[in-house]
Amino acid sequence: MSDSSKLPTIRPDLDENINVTQAHSVTPTNAAARENTHQGYTRESLSIAVFVLCSFIMIVAGGVIGKAQGTLFGYKQTVRPDYVRGKAPGVKDDSALPPKPILAAYIKKGQSLYSAKCNGCHMSDGKGDGANYPSLAGSAWVNGPSQRFSQVILNGLQGPTSTGKVYGAGVMPAQGGGMTAQDLAFLMTFVRNSFGNATGDVVTTEQAQAALDTAAARSNPSAPVTAEELKAHEKDLPGEKMDPATLVDPITFKPATK
Ligand code: HEC
Repeated sequence: MSDSSKLPTIRPDLDENINVTQAHSVTPTNAAARENTHQGYTRESLSIAVFVLCSFIMIVAGGVIGKAQGTLFGYKQTVRPDYVRGKAPGVKDDSALPPKPILAAYIKKGQSLYSAKCNGCHMSDGKGDGANYPSLAGSAWVNGPSQRFSQVILNGLQGPTSTGKVYGAGVMPAQGGGMTAQDLAFLMTFVRNSFGNATGDVVTTEQAQAALDTAAARSNPSAPVTAEELKAHEKDLPGEKMDPATLVDPITFKPATK
């Protein structure tokens, strides 16, 4: 609004009595001259018909040349059929990862499960926070009979805990949802051999399956376990034990055959 007051008061272009063309000395001739910058340049630009024709020729020619395998663009010329890289001298078989002791392999897998499932409450050092979440380091229920530990994980826990203390958070929610027997085996093996815990044993997939079956058979499956209920689980999970030094394939976890 106030801008219009800054404009010059005399606006010849808006004055109907002025011939604008004259005022700007625009004549039809110099206007045309500005439009046609290539005055005197008489060659015509490439016609669309020539352009289309050239494209067509190139496409057809490309097809013909490309089809002539083994001559101009044929891959067969540079890569021999069924070519495979030879083995390095002295190497027997470098196709598989080296086998690993089962204890180390399970601990490695269990660590990521712990990060996903337990870290948030029991902390990355397993020590909890002392007020709301108990420490898993040195816990009697972690390091003791494996069946008792498994039932805490799968069903959650209503305190008191192994030390008799009830923690501020009150109840640990069940962590078994979506966990396979193998996951549980990895996780339990990790917790029992980390944060200073050193049971040195492997919870096998077979044992973990027994833990899942036990949890599924509870009469009150949605309730967390209590110290009272855990008394019935003061034993190791059934199933054959495994030598923690057994070498396994680090991908399939099957005993290594070599
Ligand atoms: C949402 C928080 C939360 C998560 C997640 C959680 N816990 Fe807990 N956990 C607790 C609380 C709280 C207690 C103590 C319960 C109480 O005092 O009533 C507890 C207790 C325990 C105990 C008993 C320790 C003792 O010595 O008595 C074990 C063992 C345990 N948790 C293992 C785990 C494992 C393993 C995971 C991961 C699979 C896990 N918890 C995930 C909150 C959690």
